[in-house]
Amino acid sequence: MRNRTTIAGVAAAAIGLGSYLMLRPEIVETRHVPITTKIVFNREIAQIFQKKCFQCHTDGNVSVPLTTYKEARPWAVAIKEEILERKMPPWGAASGYGHFANDMSLTGREISLILSWADGGAPSGVLLVDEDKQPVYVPSLTGWEHGEPDVVLKVAADKKVAPDAPYRVERFDVATGLKSAKWLRSLQLDPADRRGIRYAAIYEARSGRWLGTWTPTSKVSPMPAGAGVQLAAGARLSVEVGYKGNVEAGEVPGSGDLGLYFYEKAPSQPAQSIEIASAAAVNVAPAKTGERVRAQTTIKAATTVASIWPRPGQGARSVEVTAIRPDGVVDPMLWVNNYRADWPSAYILKEPVSLPAGTRLVMTAYYDNATDAAIAARPAVSITAVPPSRPAATLER
Ligand code: HEC
Repeated sequence: MRNRTTIAGVAAAAIGLGSYLMLRPEIVETRHVPITTKIVFNREIAQIFQKKCFQCHTDGNVSVPLTTYKEARPWAVAIKEEILERKMPPWGAASGYGHFANDMSLTGREISLILSWADGGAPSGVLLVDEDKQPVYVPSLTGWEHGEPDVVLKVAADKKVAPDAPYRVERFDVATGLKSAKWLRSLQLDPADRRGIRYAAIYEARSGRWLGTWTPTSKVSPMPAGAGVQLAAGARLSVEVGYKGNVEAGEVPGSGDLGLYFYEKAPSQPAQSIEIASAAAVNVAPAKTGERVRAQTTIKAATTVASIWPRPGQGARSVEVTAIRPDGVVDPMLWVNNYRADWPSAYILKEPVSLPAGTRLVMTAYYDNATDAAIAARPAVSITAVPPSRPAATLER
C-alpha cells in the first residue's frame, strides 16, 4: 500500500515536472533563486560581454554563445568562477606592467558588476521581455575590418581540425606572389571557421621576421603608424597557426584567408625588428617547477617600441620583458604572469615607449614541467619598433 502510493506519487511528480521542463526549462533552474541585485543581463552585463567576450562567445565561434539572456543564464555560476580564476577573458598580462591598446582584461568595476549579477540571482532585466533577443550589437565573425585587402592569400587550404584534436601548432609556407617589392602596412586573417583556430602568427619566411599576429580579440595587426616592412618581390611568408578541436562543432576547416595591406608609396620610416632569444634550448627536467630561462639584447641606436610578441613556448608559466636603460633605470615593459600556451597574444603598446641607445632588453621566462619528459625551452620575444621620431620641425619662415 505504502509502496504503491509512493510510486504513484513519484510518477505524478515526474509527469508534472516533465511538462514543466518542456514549457520553460530555464525557469526550473532560476525560480527559487531570490533576485538581490539591480545589475541585469540586458543592460550592464551585455555591454561588458560585448567588449570583452563576444569576440569568442557568439554563435559559430570558438566557444559557447553568450549573447542573449537565454544563452548566458545557464552559465552564470561558471562565468563567476572563470572570472575569479582569471581564466576568462584569456589575457595573460599583469596590470601595471605596460599599457596595451588591445588589453582584454576586465576592469575592477566590470568584475564587481558581473559578480554582483551572478551572486544576485542573475536577472535578465526589464528592458527586454524576449529572452532570445540580443540586447546589444553582436559583431560579425567574418570579413575584413579595414576594407578589401590589397592581396588575399590562402592559408592551410586543405587543413581540417578533428573534433578531438589536442592543442597543436602547425606551420604553413605561403607565397605572396608579389611581382615587385611592397611596403606592408597591416594584415588580417579571416578564418574559414573560427571554431578550431586559436591564433595565427605571420613571419617573413627568409628572415624569420615577425610581421603580425591574429587572435580572435586582435584581428588586425598593423605596423606602427607611418612605418612599414618592405616585402621583396616573390617574398614568402611562414604562417604559424594554433589549432584545437571543438567537440560540439565536429570537424571544421582549419584554413583561412590572409589579407595584406600595402602602402601606396614608401612610408616615412621602416619598422624595426628586435629579437630577444636564448642562444640554445634549455632543458627543463620532468616534474621541475620554476625553472628560469633568461636572454637579452642591447639596442645599438635609440628606438621606440610599438608591439611585443612573446613566445616562451610549451611549459611556460610566465614571461617578462624588462628594459634596463644605460643610466640603470629599469622599465618593466610586459609581465605575462598568467601565460597560457594555447592563448598567445601580441601586446600592442598604447603609448610607444622610447628607449635610448645602449638599453638592454631582458626576457625572463619561468617554466613548470608537469610532464614526465624533459621540455626543450627556447623562449623568444619579437618586438616591432620604429626609429625615434625627429624633433618637431622648427618654425620655418
Ligand atoms: C579569446 C576568446 C575568448 C574570450 C575573449 C572569452 N572567452 Fe570564454 N572561453 C573561450 C573558449 C575557447 C572556452 C572553452 C574553454 C577553453 O578552451 O579555454 C571558453 C570557456 C568559457 C567558459 C566555460 C564554458 C565551458 O565550456 O565550460 C565560460 C563561463 C566563459 N568562457 C566565459 C567568458 C566570459 C564571461 C568572457 C568575457 C568576460 C569570456 N569568456 C571571454 C574563449 C574566450
